[in-house]
Amino acid sequence: MMQHTPNIGIGEDVDSWKTMMLIYNSALKEVGTKLEILNDEFQHVHQYNPIEYIKSRIKSPQSIVKKLKRYGYESTISNMTEYVNDIAGIRIVCSFMSDIYRLAEMIGRQNDLTVVSVKDYIKNPKKSGYKSYHMLVTIPIFLSDRVVDAKVEIQIRTIAMDFWASLEHKIYYKFEGNAPKYISRDLRECAGLVAMLDAKMLSLNEAIMKAKEEQEESRQ
Ligand code: GTP
Ligand code: MG
Repeated sequence: MMQHTPNIGIGEDVDSWKTMMLIYNSALKEVGTKLEILNDEFQHVHQYNPIEYIKSRIKSPQSIVKKLKRYGYESTISNMTEYVNDIAGIRIVCSFMSDIYRLAEMIGRQNDLTVVSVKDYIKNPKKSGYKSYHMLVTIPIFLSDRVVDAKVEIQIRTIAMDFWASLEHKIYYKFEGNAPKYISRDLRECAGLVAMLDAKMLSLNEAIMKAKEEQEESRQ
């Protein structure tokens, strides 16, 4: 019987950087496959894909070390697995706002996946104007002699939210956090426009579906 570490994160079980990266890469593959299956099944049942595209990435060593430094921790493997929650990150980009909650629910229902925490920056946007739905999950990774739980940060957002966030991210880095006031203000204003666009597209999509249904009914 293989031993399953009950703690969140892979901490003590990982002896080297290489092992750690292998585990996080495996975690990205596992969660990525789960999402593809959900998307395929959704297409099969509803003739509709909730996911436009998925991006995944492993945090660079420099960014991991930088984050630990910011938190005031030494750069050890066990601190990395314990305190850095976004070493493995997956971003799911959807067409409509309703898809976000639908997906989050489907993810939450998967028995082999543990939802550690949720941050809903759609209901509660950040001061910057940032909107997205964040889930921190753990997934068991089956190695040859043990099972370890690895953390994955999942960000779910619409195409419009993603458009805004990528520009904001660029500007933030260009000014190293000291962007001129009017730029931050204009960006917040853009976040409002993006939210309006999302709401409009959602109601338009609902109207399209309803009109299509009525058309089909009248044909029968
Ligand atoms: P980080 O230390 O940045 O990881 O933040 P955190 O640990 O407080 O977690 P949070 O859920 O707030 O943010 C995690 C991730 O969400 C970030 O790494 C970004 O990818 C994204 N994010 C959060 N806030 C913003 C924002 O204001 N603008 C943009 N563009 N992205 C953001
Ligand atoms: Mg981050």
